[in-house]
Amino acid sequence: MKHLMMSVVMVMVMASLFFFPSSGRGAEVIKLPPPAHQGSMSVEAALKARRTVRRFAARGLSLAQISQLLWATDGTSDPRGLRTAPSAGATFPLEIYLVAGDRGVGQLAAGLYRYRPQEHALELTQKGDLRQAVARACLFQAWMAEAPVMVVIAAEFARCTARYGQRGVMYTHMEVGHAGQNLFLQAEALGLGAGIVGAFEDRGLSQVLKLPSHHPPLLVMPVGYKH
Ligand SMILES: Cc1cc2nc3c(=O)[nH]c(=O)nc-3n(C[C@H](O)[C@H](O)[C@H](O)COP(=O)(O)O)c2cc1C
Repeated sequence: MKHLMMSVVMVMVMASLFFFPSSGRGAEVIKLPPPAHQGSMSVEAALKARRTVRRFAARGLSLAQISQLLWATDGTSDPRGLRTAPSAGATFPLEIYLVAGDRGVGQLAAGLYRYRPQEHALELTQKGDLRQAVARACLFQAWMAEAPVMVVIAAEFARCTARYGQRGVMYTHMEVGHAGQNLFLQAEALGLGAGIVGAFEDRGLSQVLKLPSHHPPLLVMPVGYKH
């Protein structure tokens, strides 16, 4: 009887490993290709070229481009886990999400993905093309939905306020700005363009993205080839 019980437990453990290989919770996880640490455009040229882009070509992006964009936004750049964007006290309150449209990214189904910086991977959190709904939540800024992808930066303020109290709220907003500029410059350096949107209905956008209530969205950045 004891042996039978042990066999059943073993089979259940093996089955769970097989069905939930990456996260232990059944989430679909996509490993991103490694980012490049050299490019063909100087920082100065990217700074000079950067503009808020609001017109995008109907052309998707590759997984390599997505990898580069997300890494630049807030990926890890150091074995200690430090990031491309500075973070007050290394508390890392930011959560980066990718909204991928239909045919927005080769090799990626339309949906919402959470970026996991430590693994440089994407975790699918919701299926379907959410761009129109996001644009509506952003006070009907229809131009946004023409971009093949959008990067949404949300934050868990408590990670920062646990150390700095109310001041951590300000620090978190500052950190979003750093990450946003990283994305802007990387998009330019890849020959792409990015927009930036802070005008949205907080609750409406959270609902569209089904974000946990402790991860409010702070910035939306549509990215794609310029039209
Ligand atoms: C925090 C923030 C929020 C913004 N929100 C919007 C927005 O909701 N919609 C939009 O079209 N542009 C938005 N912008 C872009 C500004 O309009 C733009 O940066 C400004 O006109 C200067 O143009 P430039 O970025 O091309 O230099 C935002 C910019 C920032 C920094």
